[in-house]
Amino acid sequence: MKYSLTKHRPEKIKDRLRIDNIISRHKDTPGELLNILEETQILSKYNYLSPAQLKYIAEKTSYPLSVVYSVTTFYSFFNLKPQGEHCIIVCRGTACHTKGSRRILDYLESVLDFGDEKINEGEKVFLTTKDKVITIKTVACFGQCALAPVVEVDGIIHSRMTVEKMKKVLSALKKKGLK
Ligand code: FES
Repeated sequence: MKYSLTKHRPEKIKDRLRIDNIISRHKDTPGELLNILEETQILSKYNYLSPAQLKYIAEKTSYPLSVVYSVTTFYSFFNLKPQGEHCIIVCRGTACHTKGSRRILDYLESVLDFGDEKINEGEKVFLTTKDKVITIKTVACFGQCALAPVVEVDGIIHSRMTVEKMKKVLSALKKKGLK
């Protein structure tokens, strides 16, 4: 699904009053835009910022929409697509690729149900399972190449990942409630 800033009308957004409240609390404080975006993202059950929310924030704060959008794309903790409950980030840097990170991605793609979406070679991966339980992403380098291949699961770094280890990670997530 393409992220379109032109299709969505700000008046259609959910949580309008809560966003107004966030804006009024941060207005004219240092780093206001970052704080506003961060708190708005948390409002979403799926931890992301919708195009309508970005337009609304731009309108209310008088920041150009291009500035608001570029902040969300610059900082990796902002999400422009709905996130699953659990997040698995596979490093696709050279060191991790050489040590087999593609095999891990292929394994995840084979066991998780992403509907019609699939991994396209050469493109950044951002896929969420149909039940919105797991999101998988790729990153260019975690800066921990000596531990390749590196995978982050819900904020915890796993070094020297293998398909076997990944199976164990998924079964641990299942125990925590993954269907
Ligand atoms: S290439 Fe994967 S951590 Fe650097």
